[in-house]
Amino acid sequence: MIAETVRPTNVPADRVYDIDIYAPSPEGRDYHEAWSRVHAATDKGLLWTPRNDGHWFAARAGTITTILSDYEHFSSRVLFVPRAAGEAHDLAPTTLDPPRHRPFRTIVNSGLGPKALARVDAMLPSLSGALIDEFLADGGCNFTRQYAELFPIRIFMTIVDLPVADAPTLKAFADQTTRPDGTMSYEDALRGINAYLEPVIEARRGGDGEDLLSKIVNGQVNGEILDNEKAMEMCTQVLIGGLDTVVNMLSFMMLFLGTHEEHQRELAQDRSRIPLFINELFRRFSIATTGRMVVEDYSFDGVDLKAGEMVMVPTALHGLDPQVNPDPLRVDLERKAARHSVFGSGNHTCPGSHLARLELRATLDQWFDRIPAFRLAPGQPVRYAGGIVAGVSDVSLTW
Ligand code: HEM
Repeated sequence: MIAETVRPTNVPADRVYDIDIYAPSPEGRDYHEAWSRVHAATDKGLLWTPRNDGHWFAARAGTITTILSDYEHFSSRVLFVPRAAGEAHDLAPTTLDPPRHRPFRTIVNSGLGPKALARVDAMLPSLSGALIDEFLADGGCNFTRQYAELFPIRIFMTIVDLPVADAPTLKAFADQTTRPDGTMSYEDALRGINAYLEPVIEARRGGDGEDLLSKIVNGQVNGEILDNEKAMEMCTQVLIGGLDTVVNMLSFMMLFLGTHEEHQRELAQDRSRIPLFINELFRRFSIATTGRMVVEDYSFDGVDLKAGEMVMVPTALHGLDPQVNPDPLRVDLERKAARHSVFGSGNHTCPGSHLARLELRATLDQWFDRIPAFRLAPGQPVRYAGGIVAGVSDVSLTW
C-alpha cells in the first residue's frame, strides 16, 4: 500500500498503480505479462506510480497515442524519470518539440530512408545467411549472442561507416543508457559515447560522405551547419537507437517462435505471411518506454495534471490493450489489424522502423531457408530485463 502522504493531492486514489516502469517484473520474469496485469487490474487510461520519484503513466491505446502526438500539452523536453536525471540531457532530435524538431528530424530521415538504405538492403540476406551458416552444423546456438547481438549491429556500423571492431565498445555504452545494470552512470555512458564520437565528427566535417553520421555532421538547420553540440547529440541519439533495439526485438521473436512450433510451420511454408507476423510481433512484444513532460496545468482523462509532471509511456501497454486488440497475449497470424505504438506516434515516430522491418524479414527468410523447425533449448531459463528498452538474455535454440 502507498502511504497517502506520498500521493500528491491531484492524484485520485483509484489512479495509483504501484509499478517500477523500468522493472515491471523485478524478478526478471516475463516483461510483457507483467505489463498486461495493469489491464487486468484497472481500465483507467492514466495511472500514477510512486516509484522513480512518482509519475503518471499512460495505460491504454488512446492515452498513449494522444500523449505521444499532442506536443502542445506533452513535451519531449524530458523523456525519462526521475525527472531531474532526464532534465539534465538534451538529445536532439528526440528532446525537441515542433517546430524546432522538424529540421533536425529531416537530417536523420535523409540517412535512414529507403533510398539511403538501398545499399544495406542488398547486404541483408548475405550477412544474415553467413551468420547462421557459422553455427548451422552445431544443431543449436545461443541466438542472442551468436546472431541478435551481431547482425543488426554490423548493419548499423555500415550505415554510420564505423569499423565493426568498435561495435562492442559502443554497444556496451548504449546498453548502459537504455538498460543500466548499475556498473556505470547514465552520464558516464554518454561521456563514453561522446569521447568516441568527437574525433569522428571532426574528421567528417566538410566531407561528402553518404553515411548517416556525415549527413548529420554536415546537415543544416535554418541555413546553418549544425554546431558541434547538436551534431554530437544527434550522432549519440542515432547510436543509441541503432545499437540496442532490433537486437532485443530479434531475441523476443526467436524466443516466441522457439516455443510455438505451429507458427514456425505456417511461416516456413508460406513466407508471404512474414510481414503480417512481424507486425503482430511488434504489437505483442513492444519494448520501448518513453515519456513526456506536462507543459501546463491540464485536465486529461479525468484528472488534473500539473505543469512539470512526468507522464511515462510504456509502449507495451498499447499493443497489449484488450480494448483494441482482443486476446492480446495471443500471437494471432489471422489478426486483421494489430494496433500498437512500438515505434511511437506523432512527430517523433521512429525513423529506424523501415530498417527494423527489413532486418527481421531478412532474418526469418534466411533462417527458414536453413532451419525450418527448431525449439528453445531445454533447461536454459531466459531472463527478462526492463529499462528504457526491454531485453531478454540468452535465448538458446536447438534443431
Ligand atoms: C525494433 C526496433 C526499434 C524500436 C522498437 C524503436 C522504438 C522507437 C520509439 C518508440 C521511438 C519514439 C520515442 C519518443 O517518441 O519519445 C523511437 C525514436 C527514434 N528511433 Fe527508434 N526504434 C527501433 C529501431 C531504431 C533504429 C534501428 C534506429 C536507428 C538506426 C532508431 C533511431 C531512432 C531515433 C533517431 C529516434 C528519435 C526520432 C525523433 O525524435 O524524431 N530506432 N524509436
